[in-house]
This record gives sequence, C-alpha cells and structure tokens, in this order.
Amino acid sequence: MSEYTSATKCIQSGYQPANGELRTLPLYQGTTYKYDSGDELAKLFDLESAGHMYTRISNPTVEYVEQKIADLEGGVAAMCTSSGQAATLIAILNICSSGQNFVCMSNLYGGTTNLFSVTLKKMGIEARFVNDAMSDEEIQSYFDENTRLVFGETIANPSLAVLDISRFARLAHSNGVPLMIDNTFATPILCRPLQYGADVVIHSSSKYMDGHATVVGGVIVDGGSFDWEKDNRYPELSESDPSYHGVTYTTQFKEAAFIVKARVQLMRDLGSTYQPFSAFILNLGLETLALRMQRHSENALKVAQFLSGNEKVSWITYPGLSSDKNYPLAQQYLEKGQASGVVSFGVKGGRKSAMKFMNALKLASIVVHVADARTSVLHPASTTHRQLSDEQLEEAGISSDFIRLSVGIEDAADILADIDQALQSL
Ligand SMILES: Cc1ncc(COP(=O)(O)O)c(C=O)c1O
Repeated sequence: MSEYTSATKCIQSGYQPANGELRTLPLYQGTTYKYDSGDELAKLFDLESAGHMYTRISNPTVEYVEQKIADLEGGVAAMCTSSGQAATLIAILNICSSGQNFVCMSNLYGGTTNLFSVTLKKMGIEARFVNDAMSDEEIQSYFDENTRLVFGETIANPSLAVLDISRFARLAHSNGVPLMIDNTFATPILCRPLQYGADVVIHSSSKYMDGHATVVGGVIVDGGSFDWEKDNRYPELSESDPSYHGVTYTTQFKEAAFIVKARVQLMRDLGSTYQPFSAFILNLGLETLALRMQRHSENALKVAQFLSGNEKVSWITYPGLSSDKNYPLAQQYLEKGQASGVVSFGVKGGRKSAMKFMNALKLASIVVHVADARTSVLHPASTTHRQLSDEQLEEAGISSDFIRLSVGIEDAADILADIDQALQSL
C-alpha cells in the first residue's frame, strides 16, 4: 500500500479479503493451527515455510495488524508485543547481551529509564545516558566496541523534547550501530523515523494507536535498512542460531532478519505475546488514528496557547508553539508541525498548586495514562516517574510543579473552560 497516504493506510492496509471473504478484519481467536501432515508442520519448525503454528509466536489477526503498522511506518515487517515495555525489552535484547552497552537519551519515559538503569543493568547490559545538549564529540566518547545501538524518543515523555533524529542516526551509523526510536507520542501519522535514518521503531500501542485506553500493547517495526553483517558486530543475526537448527537470519530472511529473529527466538522464549482480541481492538483504533492525531494536535495547540498567556502558569512546553525551544525540530520532523496531544506545564506555587489544579479539574480526569480520546492529567514526579532519583528527574526534565496534560479530542472550548476554572481555583 506504499502508494497511499497514511490516512488511507490506517483504513486499508493489512487485511485484504479474497473474493467472498469477510470485508472487515476477522478475529482468529485461538491458540493452535491444524496441518494435514507432520512434514508440513516440521517445515514450519525449521523455518523453511511460513505459517502459523502457535499463537505465542504468531496469529493471523495479529499479523494483519502488524502488516498495517509496518506499512504506516514504512518498514519491512512488524511484531506486536504484550506491552510497550515488552517491545523495548525485546528490541534491545535482540541485539544486545551481557557485557555489551547502548547509548540512549536521558529524557525517556520513566518506565523505560527504570528498565534500562535497573533491570537491564542486572542482566549485565549497560545503558549510557546522553542528552542533546552535548556536542557530537562528547556523545562520541560514550561509544566503544561493545556498543550495540542508540535509543531515543521522537517526542520525549513528558519533557516533550523533539529528537534530532538525523543527527542521532548519523552518530549511530558512524559507529556501526542502528538507531532505535520510540515513536509512541508522534505515531506514524506525525513522524516516520525510518525516513530520517532510524533503523528500528518501537511503540507503546496502548497510547494513541489504540487511542481509547482499552488495550495495553506494543509493537516493533523493522526498517530493513541496517546491514547486520557489516564488521561482524551482530553474530546473533549473521551467524547460525543453534536454537533453530543452525539458521542464519541474515542469509535466510535478508532485510527482515531483525524482526524474524525477535519473533522466532525471543517471542518463542519470552512469550510476551499480543492477544488476537487485543489486535482486533487495536485495529479499530488504528482506523481513526490519522483523524484523531490531527484533532489531538489542534486541541493541544489551543490549550498551549491559552496556558502560555495565563498569569497562574509559571512555564509551558509544547513543541507546536512557535515560542517553544523544540519548535524548529517539530517543524523539521513532525508532519505539518503538528505536535501531538501532550502539553507539559507548571503552575505558580509548585507541587502544592499542581496538585490543587489537578484536583479542581472536572472534565479532565487524573489517570496514569496519556494519549487517549479523553483529556487527562498527571503529576509525573509523584506517579509515573516516582522511582527516579532527583538527579534522574532533573535529567528527564521533570520539576516538582510539572503537570502533564494529555489533551483529548473533545470540543476544545469545553477543555479550555475546564482548565480555566481549575486555574481560577488557585
Ligand atoms: C513513550 C512511552 N514508551 C513506552 C511506554 C511503555 O508502554 P506500555 O505502558 O504499553 O508498556 C510508555 C508508557 O507510558 C510510553 O509513554
């Protein structure tokens, strides 16, 4: 479907019915698949033929949704996972093991920072945190012969810093490693990082992709562009895998080597499977993704403009505001400069006022979530980023008065009225 625009792909990509078949995505709710002969099944186990054998590894409904997301991102293939966390973990473990390291931005989602600095550390994998204020030379000093990838978020949660994707792709590639991007906040409607040199894209599909706060999920998209054989840096891809009768992923699966290995080896072993019913629901969300991202961005811009002129507001960040420090990068990387639905700001009076403001909201609800159709609000320092040390909070750009507002797709006038009355209560 590469000839169509994203809005059309949201509706049409993935499932293509044959004559007389169901027009809409069928739900294949089941665990196992029937074959006429043992030989056919054996070929699947040897990866000699394609097909589904067990839903832990793949399923037709999930596969159609994976095809749609791969098409939207412009990648060669995708794999859905049980959560965004699982997508990040599997994508990294696919090419990074004990004794190795990777370079990543310091302003990531708090759960990702925990995963990197605590859990992966226990597994012997070192995350080396850098920030975009550093010079190329400084960032270069974080790479060595054991570095396996670079990781960043297109629009960071919740600092909303927009990543200079081309710059980090250049830094990654000049060190012989791929750039992996968490594109959750932008979605492929606002940014397709593969176009700017990224090699692997991951998402928490629990956010805008689903868009209705109904199913937790994640996805990994393989750009198919990275040369895994160069310098023999990735023997797990370019040499034979004893757990698959000696298959060599780069030889047998060419540009889809990364995603095939992630599925047949790591999904097989870790079992962080996306369920068929979840994929069925996710597909409904994806069908309206282009419409919703436009509306989220328009509403968030109106909210940001309103807040930036308000005397009770101490500071505001929204990459769609022309006065914002991220505006130039938003213009460069985000479709028509549309900056998604999250606005971050502080109110005068610090943490206490931030809490009072949140409690006074009537339409917007306090939830541990962003990016669904309903306007919602959160105080990251006491919730999603609670486990981070003061130093990590500062590195992630989160102050004690920090409020993260996820602007929904309700009527903008109602959202603004709600914010106005809550500010007046301060
Ligand atoms: C940017 C980003 N990446 C990854 C995740 C993790 O996704 P999930 O909650 O689906 O595991 C989140 C969750 O908030 C997120 O905001």
